Amino acid sequence: MKFKIYIMLLFLFCFGAACSSGGNDNKEEQQQTASSSIEVADYGQTEEGPAKLYTLKNKNGIQVEISNYGGIVTRLLLPGKDGQFDDVVLGFDKLEDYQNDHPYFGAIIGRYGNRIAKGSFTLDGQAYSLAINNEPNALHGGPTGFHKHLWQAKEIEREGAVGLELSRVSQDLEEGYPGTLNVTVRYLLNNANELLIEYEATTDKPTVVNLTNHSYFNLKGAGKGDILGHELMIVANRFTPVDSTLIPTGELRPVEGTPFDFRTPTIIGERVNADNEQIRFGGGYDHNFVLNRKGEGLELAATVYEPTTGRFMEVLTTEPGIQFYCGNFLDGSNIGKGGVPYAYRTGFCLETQHYPDSPNQPDFPSTVLRPGEKYETKTVYRFSVK
Ligand code: GLA
Repeated sequence: MKFKIYIMLLFLFCFGAACSSGGNDNKEEQQQTASSSIEVADYGQTEEGPAKLYTLKNKNGIQVEISNYGGIVTRLLLPGKDGQFDDVVLGFDKLEDYQNDHPYFGAIIGRYGNRIAKGSFTLDGQAYSLAINNEPNALHGGPTGFHKHLWQAKEIEREGAVGLELSRVSQDLEEGYPGTLNVTVRYLLNNANELLIEYEATTDKPTVVNLTNHSYFNLKGAGKGDILGHELMIVANRFTPVDSTLIPTGELRPVEGTPFDFRTPTIIGERVNADNEQIRFGGGYDHNFVLNRKGEGLELAATVYEPTTGRFMEVLTTEPGIQFYCGNFLDGSNIGKGGVPYAYRTGFCLETQHYPDSPNQPDFPSTVLRPGEKYETKTVYRFSVK
């Protein structure tokens, strides 16, 4: 009898333990999905329909807000070393401000990130001309580039990640570019504190494509002063020097012995005003760096550390280049979130890309996309605290 009771108790104990441990697992899973989430809200009206604002959150409280208007990253909340969250990207409070002219805050750039000399290129013997929106050159896909369109949006999930899939069809000769281009851009925020961006495109005629994201970061927090104290490292032995209109000369110049040597972490402000022709042409840093690539996959391109908050950012990409721009054209005329004017050098961009003006530079990696091929690139912004 006693023995039977012991057996029963043992059985009940084991069963209870199994249940409760299973229960715990479920709880953790639930917490994981409950705390990594995606929400959508109305964002206002555009000529192409109503815009939405999507809020992606991971289980660590990191939050990114993205609109399907221009695929714009409007907000990115990151913790600092004291646990305080700050919004680390420049942008506006209202959709209207993004519909007006602005320096591409947070937007998807297409069809061609950065400049094409004099807005013209020849492909397969056929000449194409683009709007000159940055005298005397074409910049960032033209006045009504991808940053000024409404994208179709779909919420997506992957293991440990929530995301937003944006797609649009860019018609043949939109902004002067040949071919009907089917474009998809996916933003995924995972629980390893990474924001992954996947870019894909196909065409029905030969064309050129170079997509990027134009987020301006300030790891102290947007509107909290300049970015000159950030420590930058770029995995590049060479950069592409430019002429006075910021078009690459075609040379791949070693960074060694120049203000462009960021191979070890260096404070941005240290050499940003150096007496150097390239610094003069850029008004500071506004240059493409030739990444030291080993293969085809995602590889580390750059890191940025902000010492007062401890925030650390790594940029990984499949792209051959990265544009480091330190906000030299910001002049306080853009009134940003919370009514704060964004002054000179209060944000920096690390735009992963093919080199500027590649359609006119036969020795640069090609940006030509042909029917039957798939354009596919990836970039990861990984965040932590040191
Ligand atoms: C890019 C360019 C800069 C500037 C900004 C937008 O980063 O390289 O010269 O045009 O975009 O203001």
